[in-house]
Amino acid sequence: MGVANALPLAAEVAVIGAGAMGAGIAQIAAMAGHRVCLFDTGMGAADRAKAKIGETLDMLASKGKIDADQAKAAASRIVAVHALGDLVSAKLVVEAVVEDLAVKRNLFRELEVVVTPDTILATNTSSFSITALAAGMQHPGRVVGMHFFNPAPLMPLVEVVSGLATDCETAGVVHATALAWGKLPVHARSTPGFIVNRCARPFYAEALRVLGEQGADPATLDALMRDAGGFRMGPFELMDLIGLDINLAVTRSVWEAFFYDSRFTPSVAQHELVTAGYFGRKSGRGFFDYGPDALKTAPASESPQSPPGKVARVGELRMGAELVARLANSGLAPDVAIADPRFPQGALRIDNKAWLVPGDGRTATAIAANGGVRDVVIYDLAFDFAKCSRVGVARADTCSDAAFAAAVGALQACGIAVSRIDDVAGMIVLRTVAMLSNEAADAVAQGVASAADVDLAMQKGVNYPSGPLAWGDVLGVVYVRDTLANLAAHYGEDRYRLSPLIARRCASGDKLRT
Ligand code: NAI
Repeated sequence: MGVANALPLAAEVAVIGAGAMGAGIAQIAAMAGHRVCLFDTGMGAADRAKAKIGETLDMLASKGKIDADQAKAAASRIVAVHALGDLVSAKLVVEAVVEDLAVKRNLFRELEVVVTPDTILATNTSSFSITALAAGMQHPGRVVGMHFFNPAPLMPLVEVVSGLATDCETAGVVHATALAWGKLPVHARSTPGFIVNRCARPFYAEALRVLGEQGADPATLDALMRDAGGFRMGPFELMDLIGLDINLAVTRSVWEAFFYDSRFTPSVAQHELVTAGYFGRKSGRGFFDYGPDALKTAPASESPQSPPGKVARVGELRMGAELVARLANSGLAPDVAIADPRFPQGALRIDNKAWLVPGDGRTATAIAANGGVRDVVIYDLAFDFAKCSRVGVARADTCSDAAFAAAVGALQACGIAVSRIDDVAGMIVLRTVAMLSNEAADAVAQGVASAADVDLAMQKGVNYPSGPLAWGDVLGVVYVRDTLANLAAHYGEDRYRLSPLIARRCASGDKLRT
């Protein structure tokens, strides 16, 4: 994509649709210095939005976040207009009207005869194909996605989405303009879900699968994703915040647009909640209860166990080497390495009772059976084992209570809270991160976006602690591949099929972020 210039500040911007997103986009463009015409078919909606933006800017000035003169000047640059014909001088139009393909297509067709042929027509759609929106237009090359995240003035990411006919120059100008407006833009090819709404699906889907298999309750799974996974919010509290209905609708739209690829299949349990009207916070109930008397559900943690007397390391730990350091700090000297071909990928031998083994997509029970031992406890992935405050464990069906207690005691001795997940393959953080890496790799393999842009989008659009590709590199592509292969074998489902890019990188020895 060539380097283009941003829209000059003298160029007028039009925003159509003065709802939550349109008002935010108008505020951003006006703050950047453009004259902004705001249009909405709702009676008085554009005027109300203009007044509200003025109040927001005043409030930001009163808190010292922006200069008072700057706030006044930006507010005065917004003009509420009452007919599409008033947008004749706009050089960039951003539409943020209702998410209805027919409404958006009609709007662009009407606009085409109002604005000049070089005016860029951008859409803030979250789900429609830019190719489909542009089809049949006189100048489809100027149609582009400019996808902001909610709340637009605060969220840095903008996906600049090109359909089949979008001119490189158009995408380049929108990218440069978003940058000039203080945003972090990424280029994306118009494919279902673009980058973020596609690559984030496993975050919800894997948690819903583990919940469906009764792996643990939502509060415990959320706590593991936060305290071990490093995510800002757990999947269930986030779905409750977004609205289960909205979240399901996004999943459904991506699934349908990919012709029902099983990787995106919605969850029956989530559908059931939506059917019941349990939409999350906005309806007072979702995965959690938000009623006036509701108590916050605490995650389940194992009760305190005695620290072990002796810990040995078996082979090279491929995940959790920092755990060894934490154990050493607690005086458990685990660096005595013993050879054992049953756990070549590394494990800890606790008090000659338990094998504490990193998860690899198999169940603890399968790992025990394959190793010809009984007392296996597996531990889940953490974003940073040196700092995590909680970790998930699962015990083999054959594991004795004493061995489980020893394994729990070893982790607790490091100052880590331990939450037990039932023996579900891939646990929770590991399977989610493996699937996030896999989806991100597929998006790169299919030319949706560059690896750097995919990682940036996931960090800036949904606040992931790491880009999923960089995370896969830290874990090692071979480990991600093996985890997915184990999940695929366990479930016998195409859902866990490996991205061709990961297979290729495993063969070449290269990283995903080359
Ligand atoms: P909203 O419902 O708050 O606002 C939509 C506005 O468009 C309303 O004021 C309505 O009167 C107006 N409108 C409807 N048809 C119109 C037409 N033909 N011409 C002019 N105005 C018209 O919706 P919201 O949330 O602001 O979403 C707008 C767009 O942004 C949608 O395409 C949505 O998918 C997308 N989006 C929404 C996000 C969100 O979190 N709400 C995030 C990113 C994108």
